[in-house]
Amino acid sequence: MKGKKESKTVVQEAWIKELVLKNPAKYLLIDDIVSKHKNMEGSLLPILHDIQFEFGCVEDETKRYLANVLNLTRAEIQGIVSFYHDFANAPSPLPIIKLCGAEACQARGYRKLRDEIGVVANGRCQIETVYCLGLCSAGPSAMIGSDVHAQLNTEKLRHLIEAL
Ligand code: FES
Repeated sequence: MKGKKESKTVVQEAWIKELVLKNPAKYLLIDDIVSKHKNMEGSLLPILHDIQFEFGCVEDETKRYLANVLNLTRAEIQGIVSFYHDFANAPSPLPIIKLCGAEACQARGYRKLRDEIGVVANGRCQIETVYCLGLCSAGPSAMIGSDVHAQLNTEKLRHLIEAL
């Protein structure tokens, strides 16, 4: 029994070394993210959010790596990634615009903006609806990359899209 466990550990270590050697900077950053959150309760969600923010997705390789370092199953991680709309399995080929569709932004014109921006974007970017970007009193708001923009109208958003 002990021998079997040891051989599994050796296989895991070899697999991890191989993965890390392929892209050391990526796994160094993932290790930093894991270290930052691992001692808090419910650490998986903030870890996945940080990974999504840094890499634009949570790839299968990353899920496998996380499962190993967090002592979880890949199914547990896949379950979270597929449940929450914020996480993607692969990077988007298009820039992503996250439009806030929460209550305050709805009251300030989210629907009109969403309807018009699809035409303006004309397939140049991916439009997603998110719920509250923290600028409720200055909506409608949107997030492009790591920048949040407030008091948007179609014209302002058109300029932002053209600058992408
Ligand atoms: S409701 Fe849109 S930013 Fe909060």
